[in-house]
Amino acid sequence: MSFVVNALSDCAAEILGFDASRPTPAPDLARLREAFRVHPILCLRDQSLDARGLGAFARQFGPLERQDRSAYCHEDDNDILILSNDRRADGSQVGIVDAGDFWHSDSSHMAEPTRITMLHSVKNPAKGGDTLYIDMRAVYAALPAALEARVAGRNAIHHVAKTLNPRVTVSAERAGAAAYYKSREKETRPIAQPMVRTHPETGAQALYISPRFTIGIEDMDDAQAQPLLDELFRRMFSNPAWQYTHAWRDRDLVMWDNACLVHMAGGGYDYPDVRRMHRATVAGEPAYYRP
Ligand SMILES: [Fe+2]
Repeated sequence: MSFVVNALSDCAAEILGFDASRPTPAPDLARLREAFRVHPILCLRDQSLDARGLGAFARQFGPLERQDRSAYCHEDDNDILILSNDRRADGSQVGIVDAGDFWHSDSSHMAEPTRITMLHSVKNPAKGGDTLYIDMRAVYAALPAALEARVAGRNAIHHVAKTLNPRVTVSAERAGAAAYYKSREKETRPIAQPMVRTHPETGAQALYISPRFTIGIEDMDDAQAQPLLDELFRRMFSNPAWQYTHAWRDRDLVMWDNACLVHMAGGGYDYPDVRRMHRATVAGEPAYYRP
């Protein structure tokens, strides 16, 4: 296969001439992995893939995470999750409607967070639906020395319950979401993650916090921790050059490296303008996220 890598930004590239519907020959997989080390966001254009095909492509990068939201798993491959605002005739949702509505790194609230996330666009809305990214390596590299010293060696506390986090709100669009997050407050243990982590392949260091999941700092009073988090979050958004916004085309397959990015769903579309994405998540190898 001869495919082309075109940089779209400092951290994103598009891949043209690649066919993800067939097993990837080893030399091409090696080339793709190398491109992924350079560009932690890769958009493979024009991929005609069903759910099984997406699953097969994604498993070339490692075992997929099991999905606990079975109502939204694809019937042809249970490791594929449907993200969509589409509704059945009875009004029920066909997929997760509020996925990724605040800045986050996937599953940082879990002991072993997601390594690679892949989204395949089955149907894009007429407007909106962008996915936004921030390169947390750049954010970390630009921290003033005094701030770097305050996060060095620290762990942040991550938790899934939106109801514990005043920086986010619970979507009214998802039935039962508030009750779900309320139930998670005590049933799910908080997870400590290093505030700075080292990429397992490139060695690059990145800030590892997010407004969605980070609710505090280990061994630090909130009186100090919350203003520090606010300052770090403010810096995350302070330079447009660190951001990449992906405006989806139908059949885009985007894969991103959660080891150095945060991302968010941009929204901006309303039913019956339907968006449908299929998602596969490659599990993190043990300790990939360590300092
Ligand atoms: Fe996400």
